[in-house]
Amino acid sequence: MNAKRPLAPFGRRAAPVTFNARYGAYAVIGCADTDGPRPSAGQFYMLSAASRWGGGDAERPYLPRAFSVLRAPAGSAELEFLIEDVGPGTKRLAELAPGDQLQLVGPLGNGFAPPSADTTPLLVGGGVGIAPLAILQDQLAPNAIALLGFRDGAHAAGAELLADPVIATDDGSVGHYGLVTDLLADELDRDDPVTVYACGPPAMLEAVRRICAQRAIPAQLALESGMACGYGACFGCVVATKDGFVRLCVDGPILDGQALNEVAA
Ligand code: FES
Repeated sequence: MNAKRPLAPFGRRAAPVTFNARYGAYAVIGCADTDGPRPSAGQFYMLSAASRWGGGDAERPYLPRAFSVLRAPAGSAELEFLIEDVGPGTKRLAELAPGDQLQLVGPLGNGFAPPSADTTPLLVGGGVGIAPLAILQDQLAPNAIALLGFRDGAHAAGAELLADPVIATDDGSVGHYGLVTDLLADELDRDDPVTVYACGPPAMLEAVRRICAQRAIPAQLALESGMACGYGACFGCVVATKDGFVRLCVDGPILDGQALNEVAA
């Protein structure tokens, strides 16, 4: 969507970890990337740890993992990533500490496009999918309204990463008891002109796509897919659009909601 996207330097590079901060169920890992261009909101990196990556308890080789950049403060070399420990690779990344080295390739993919003229950005995030919305709020949409959904209170601690969010939780422990798409429908009922930006699990994204399509609201969706290479070579990340299959790592991960018949589970 963003024709002038920053391009990744060739090959993998090391970035020293500068901090590891806990936000409930999540870790935010900061690193100093002195050799790469600054990313656009919505771009992603392939991450791995420089040591004890693969060959751990289960003796399995881990591929790098794709992560949207959470934050890239202006005027610094710092990059931040939001990690949820859901398996051996993410567990290793979530435990990295200052003194460790993060290996990264990026920035990759296309970032978000600016909001349509005279519209307010409306950010809709679910779980770890809030990550690209934080840098979007920093770079493109300081006046954005943020609607964030989480499974429970431990995960809702991640809401601190965005400014002035409205929160929904599946168990009702924080904010609205229900889905973030309930909040979206309420917000759209105001009939204010908005551009929707969304990232989260496929079922949430499909609900956002459908709601926006019914109301002719522009929506940019950050999709997820298994990514083995991150630069278009393996075709492991293809998704169906109205115009055929695209590779999310080079043609996405941000897609226009109107380009999709559905967000597949
Ligand atoms: Fe390999 Fe997209 S991740 S083609």
